[in-house]
Amino acid sequence: MRNRRAALAAMATAASLALTLSACGQSGEGGSKEDKGSAKGGTIGIAMPTKSSERWIADGNNVVKDLKAKGYKTKLVYGEDDPDTQVSQIENLITQGVKGLIIAAIDNKSLNNVLQQAKDANIPVIAYDRLILGTPNVDYYASFDNEKVGELQAGYLVEKLGLKDGSKKGPFNIELFAGSNDDNNTKYFFGGAMKVLQPYMDKKQLVVKSGQTRLNQVTTLRWDGATAQKRMEDILTSTYTSGKVDAVLSPYDGISIGIIAALKSDGYGSASKPLPVISGQDAELASVKSIIAGQQTQTVYKDTRELAKVAGNMVDAVLNGKKPEVNDTKTYDNGSKVVPAYLLQPVSVDKSNYKQVLVDGGYYSESDLK
Ligand code: GAL
Repeated sequence: MRNRRAALAAMATAASLALTLSACGQSGEGGSKEDKGSAKGGTIGIAMPTKSSERWIADGNNVVKDLKAKGYKTKLVYGEDDPDTQVSQIENLITQGVKGLIIAAIDNKSLNNVLQQAKDANIPVIAYDRLILGTPNVDYYASFDNEKVGELQAGYLVEKLGLKDGSKKGPFNIELFAGSNDDNNTKYFFGGAMKVLQPYMDKKQLVVKSGQTRLNQVTTLRWDGATAQKRMEDILTSTYTSGKVDAVLSPYDGISIGIIAALKSDGYGSASKPLPVISGQDAELASVKSIIAGQQTQTVYKDTRELAKVAGNMVDAVLNGKKPEVNDTKTYDNGSKVVPAYLLQPVSVDKSNYKQVLVDGGYYSESDLK
């Protein structure tokens, strides 16, 4: 629980923001005040986890754009990867009278109390990309097929190593990294990847020399690149006094960049000691550039424009008394209920198809990638 001073500060901020908002409402088109009955023209609160990763900046901007096009006002906040900050931000949004909430959680289990407040105020909640756990007060879930993300990452590694088509037999050394243990997606990414990797590990064609194979040994708190870099450095020092790393399962671009930094300072990246095959996720600019430069090998692209649209459609439908479109009603049990979801399809991207997928698809321009 936050202390009293923090609670008072949050209330003061909320009150002043509420004033600003209601002032906007009164001076808005037609001078109409926001009334509880009609959602159009109302404000949707959007709570994103952090600005330290460019994907969430794109997500936030895309959600705002989509909702504005649908006739809503928006209030976008970033929690700077601190669960308590995110809770008070959402409390503030509720106090300000938002009509709906779209939330990408920092810690999937820390939002139960604040979502009860949302429920009491009759505010629908869409879980954005990351499922919120342990509460019935999450109405819909907009995400990607998260298990498929892991399958694409691991599938790419075994293909590049030549294990998939049998052209090589190994054994190859692989090290495993997973995401933050408080993000529900982590176990889906890792589970999907292990489904692909485990049979090769069982046949000793893939060897995890560090011995760190269980999820709780390989997670990376808050998806932090520096944390991953440190872990890779430790593994290199303790385990690879002989032999080399041939592949790294990395769940996210920011983590891949940290891992590559550790490998390079250990002398990887030359003709005699090439960088391992290394996966990623999000097609962040730095990683796409790294792929073009021949360092990171692959990423999994998830179009944030599409995800924003799905979340916007969901909140808009609920506020208009309609049922949002969903395509999965059984996978995402949050411990309290199965949350109806719309899952988009992730796409594997490497040097061979980044132009077609990312540039032709309008996600980046050629000049962004220079
Ligand atoms: C996950 C998300 C990934 C990646 C990661 C770190 O929840 O699904 O795409 O962005 O967070 O930000």
